[in-house]
Amino acid sequence: MGSKPMEKTDYTYLRKEMEEVLSAKRYIHTLGVAYTASCLAMAHEEPIEKAMVAGLLHDCAKSMHGSELVAICEKGHLRMNAVERSNPTALLHAKAGAYLAEHKYGVADTDILNAICYHTTGRPDMSKLEKIIYIADYIEPGRKQLAGLEMVRRIAYQDLDWTMENILANTLAYLQTTDGQVDDMTVKTYEFYRRKA
Ligand SMILES: [Fe+2]
Ligand SMILES: [Fe+2]
Repeated sequence: MGSKPMEKTDYTYLRKEMEEVLSAKRYIHTLGVAYTASCLAMAHEEPIEKAMVAGLLHDCAKSMHGSELVAICEKGHLRMNAVERSNPTALLHAKAGAYLAEHKYGVADTDILNAICYHTTGRPDMSKLEKIIYIADYIEPGRKQLAGLEMVRRIAYQDLDWTMENILANTLAYLQTTDGQVDDMTVKTYEFYRRKA
């Protein structure tokens, strides 16, 4: 019996692609996010394959230069605000990553594309998969010294909205201690989950 031809969006194919395009450190983080997302999908009754693919691709544009990220966003006619343009690697890699996931890696599932697109800022009223990727990015095993990490890791398997509120509160508090600019969407997302949780 011959083996099934590999689909472009197969986990194994995408894992190899990510190993090529990402730095070693970013690749290990990516695997951590993919496996953590699959565990969260199990706990919250979401399709595991979707969580794995979204986790694998969430940082697919992270190793690119800022100018390349801006060029991808311009090519895709993706709106960029001033904060994103001034800090492309931190903020635009998510939007550019969603574009690459669709046009380079052949992902057609809108929920997966949105999970990649909103993994840095979140957005109000996120889908279950979007929350899973956002949370997996924060709690994957390689993360160290993030505020409230132990409790967030525990609660993530029980309550996604509560976890979102806590991660966003921690992130905003952290950003206030640095020179990093705060994206408006992060604040809007926090306000949404603060009221909801
Ligand atoms: Fe990222
Ligand atoms: Fe990440």
